[in-house]
Amino acid sequence: MVIACDTLLLLTVGPTVSKRCLKEEGHVARVTVIGTGYVGLVSGVCLANSGHDVTCVDIDPAKVAQLTSGRSTIYEPGIEELLVAGLANGTLRFTTPSDGWAPLIGDITFVAVGTPMAANGAADLSQVRAVVADLAAAADRPFILVMKSTVPPGTGATVKSRNLSDAAVPIAYVSNPEFLREGHAVADWYHTDRIVLGSDDSSALAAVCELYADIDAPILETDTASAETIKYASNAFLSTKISFINEIANLCDAIGADIDSVSTGIGMDTRIGPAFLKAGIGYGGSCFPKDTRALDFIATLNGYQFTLLKSVIEVNNRQRLLPVIHLARAIPDLHERTVAVLGLSFKPDTDDVREAPAVDIVPLLAEGGANVVVYDPIAAHIPLEDATRVATVWEALDGASAAIVTTEWPEFRDLDWARARSMMHDPALVYDGRNCLDGDTLRAAGIEYMAVGRQGAHRASI
Ligand code: UGA
Repeated sequence: MVIACDTLLLLTVGPTVSKRCLKEEGHVARVTVIGTGYVGLVSGVCLANSGHDVTCVDIDPAKVAQLTSGRSTIYEPGIEELLVAGLANGTLRFTTPSDGWAPLIGDITFVAVGTPMAANGAADLSQVRAVVADLAAAADRPFILVMKSTVPPGTGATVKSRNLSDAAVPIAYVSNPEFLREGHAVADWYHTDRIVLGSDDSSALAAVCELYADIDAPILETDTASAETIKYASNAFLSTKISFINEIANLCDAIGADIDSVSTGIGMDTRIGPAFLKAGIGYGGSCFPKDTRALDFIATLNGYQFTLLKSVIEVNNRQRLLPVIHLARAIPDLHERTVAVLGLSFKPDTDDVREAPAVDIVPLLAEGGANVVVYDPIAAHIPLEDATRVATVWEALDGASAAIVTTEWPEFRDLDWARARSMMHDPALVYDGRNCLDGDTLRAAGIEYMAVGRQGAHRASI
């Protein structure tokens, strides 16, 4: 078959994937990162560590002062070492925009400010809009604006038409979503599965690509709306895997199968893969809950009913209530008992409690009348009106009739459960909301062990 030249062209139009970006010998980019939250700080520190000249800007002078003194504002393994190194070798600095934006704008300027969830479920873009407007108004020479904040599909097009087209100088726009997990962000920066760049400006794409020349990852170059969608679709798909396996776990509870075996068995299919098939009380954090709701919102806004995504969200909302439902069934006078909640953060290796299951579980238990005692090895800043906060796991378990493991901190996995049993009151029930404990060890210690879809665990169906 002969394919005409123009047909061939059509067939090759679409995203391009390249193995590596080429870096000009000795090339150092002047980079600005706006926002020193979790994404901005990791990006700035890692880009400086690659030898780029990086200025990080934040409106909060206290943060800027702390970072300038070499102390990280987030709990993230490896970040402080890189921060200190960048400050010491002069590739990294922090400042506020108090003297105006114009001198701060780098050849490549990343926007990494927050896009929290608005009351209606949409992403609140007020910080992004304000920064983009400031940059466009202040720019006195051309630069590339890289959007690192998670913004809904269509945002790039709006920013270009509303802000950048009116600027006094040309400003190119590149969408560059992040795929960093909290607690692994530095490692994820260097060992990412892919770098996604979305723009209609090929020279801007090439310049941003060059920033990542030392990272051994495939680069996907596409249009802006597709890059924005890749970010949301990735988080929505991972959330879907979690809600799916949680429903299978609930089914395992009902029919007597074991979720550990089922997860392993389906994960062995390379088309499915083993990741994100850990059943439990569902996903939390600053990303999955916010991004799934924002994607649902943007779909509805565009006239599409994303039925599957709505179910994923609903399943997750219900899943985190399971420990309270099961405990109330197992201990009828729960309102007169002490319940220990072990773990506040939405996952281990972070102090982040945003959308963490514990944040819903604690008030629910307290409203039911239980005396709630909470322990977390790191997360310390959450205000807890409904519960007593203690400094050790033993204080939490002392006199508790039940405990709920809400975060799979290694400390809980490796706990002396016989000692725990000796301190707990009957029925000494432990609800393992993360399926992270060894049920046999707990049962051998005389503890009544409940988990999510695990065989041998005390069963209770929804
Ligand atoms: C997530 C994504 O994994 C990152 O790729 C993305 O960049 C980031 O959101 C973001 O959008 O900024 P993160 O929220 O840090 O990262 O946390 P994950 O490690 O993905 O875990 C999310 C939640 O899912 C946690 O509550 C975790 O306990 C839960 N989870 C995860 C499960 O319940 N089961 C699993 O099998 C995996």
